[in-house]
Amino acid sequence: MTLDGRTSASNRPLYCGSVSSGGGQILSANGTFSVIVVARHDETPEVVSLELWLPDGGELPAWAPGAHIDIAVGEVGVRQYSLCGDPQDRLRWRVGVLLERSDAGDRATCTAKQCRGSTLTVSLPRNNFDLEPSEEYGLVAGGIGITPMLPMIAAAEAAGAAWTLHYGGRSRQSMAYLDEVVVHGDRVGVLPQDEYGVLPVSDILARSATQAQVYCCGPEPLLAAVESAIGPEDAQRLHVERFRPRSADEESAPDRDFTVRIASTGATVRVGEGQSIVDALEGVGIAVETSCREGTCASCETPVLQGEVCHRDSVLSAGEREQSVSIMLCVSRARSDLLVLDQ
Ligand code: FES
Repeated sequence: MTLDGRTSASNRPLYCGSVSSGGGQILSANGTFSVIVVARHDETPEVVSLELWLPDGGELPAWAPGAHIDIAVGEVGVRQYSLCGDPQDRLRWRVGVLLERSDAGDRATCTAKQCRGSTLTVSLPRNNFDLEPSEEYGLVAGGIGITPMLPMIAAAEAAGAAWTLHYGGRSRQSMAYLDEVVVHGDRVGVLPQDEYGVLPVSDILARSATQAQVYCCGPEPLLAAVESAIGPEDAQRLHVERFRPRSADEESAPDRDFTVRIASTGATVRVGEGQSIVDALEGVGIAVETSCREGTCASCETPVLQGEVCHRDSVLSAGEREQSVSIMLCVSRARSDLLVLDQ
């Protein structure tokens, strides 16, 4: 198998290239391939770990801490799961799957119900939550948001960086992978809500070193609390990962018509009110790589050469929105009459 690493317009690593198995290419035209569930382990009553292999036991694509994969979940679509095993182990991937109770959660349940020997369709790894080199990290996890932190801890340890983890959850019994984090002693704060209340985000951030890179993953209220607590002067060192769209988007603005021009061909497309750029482009036969179509996965991220973007995604940081070098075509729009895409 060969892999060619590249980065997105915002320097997010995309692990792309080819995946071969038994001498033949197994990557489909839409960039997905099959893996086998070789082990399923109940971490808590609500979280299961799935261990995934290529069907022939060959090498899986490379990834780095913070990366996630898409898993096609039956007829209900695609969901994203952080890789939470060892990046050096190219034979197996591990994902943690939450058994949710809501209607939407039925999708996750479909994945978690996979038993040993079943086949899943997955994407190449994508990383919107890359661990930047730093001498110190402040990791904050809520619930299933612990999964990307596990390889981050290993990477920080390997690099000799200082780090702390504050891990919250509904109750101790509901918190997965506790045994893997408590071995790190007082660098880890385990703070179940039924014992300590909600994570004291302001206190945690106030105690973190001013140069620490802060990584947070978990439910939306936790992410929103961290974003509002860190303050604009420190926003550049905050990294959050959302697998659901932001609940409130400060960049929301009334829809308006605008024109998109494809720089490579000169083709122009009018995007109507209430229509996404993806839909408008697909309407004239211009294919766009997509997965979530709700602004959380970055599959459709495209460089912008000209025009003012109204960002509505849940991936770009405040700094990336300000630089505005790229746009998520599935949800974001233009404030200007013309948007020129580097496509
Ligand atoms: S398709 Fe996922 S962000 Fe656009």
